[in-house]
Amino acid sequence: MEALKAILTRRSVRRFSDKPVSQENLETILRAAMAAPSATNEQPWHFLVITDRPLICKITEIHQHAAMCYQASAAIIPCINLAEKEYRDFWVEDMSAATQNILLAVRALDMAAVWVGIYPNEGRVNEFRKLFKLPPSVIPFALIPIGHSDVVQKEELDRFKKERIHWHKWE
Ligand SMILES: Cc1cc2nc3c(=O)[nH]c(=O)nc-3n(C[C@H](O)[C@H](O)[C@H](O)COP(=O)(O)O)c2cc1C
Repeated sequence: MEALKAILTRRSVRRFSDKPVSQENLETILRAAMAAPSATNEQPWHFLVITDRPLICKITEIHQHAAMCYQASAAIIPCINLAEKEYRDFWVEDMSAATQNILLAVRALDMAAVWVGIYPNEGRVNEFRKLFKLPPSVIPFALIPIGHSDVVQKEELDRFKKERIHWHKWE
């Protein structure tokens, strides 16, 4: 799928079919995640990948806005290990870029996903640390449930707002 089409037709999808996400597609998605830009090209990310359905369902017990996990065939949790990082100023931006790349790669592969926030909610961060046995220095950044879906993502988004564009000066 053409890049611009994937960007403009991407939607948060919270309803998935039973069809599993193939290992090959997961690898493609993770390759896209790791192609994201990062400050000083540090590429600080790790990715927790879950394809075990009962474990994905367990997420609904610790996140009140993650009911879509009952149906998702896979989930990716981009994580950062602050113990590894030398330059800490821009890690949120780095992780956001990787997360967005995942959403776009999923769309390009004609599947569906949604960005579910974890960080900076401390309670959620701690619950995910407990469930997935993350060391204290590792921050789970976001949850991305993924699956095939019959939710149609065809129409291009039009959120263009002329008044938000400031040419040359803020006037
Ligand atoms: C930082 C962040 C946190 C979000 N958290 C949730 C969430 O907890 N649950 C959820 O269903 N969607 C969540 N979303 C998805 C937004 O609701 C969604 O992106 C927004 O409504 C726009 O819709 P669209 O993605 O279809 O364009 C989150 C999105 C972002 C960027």
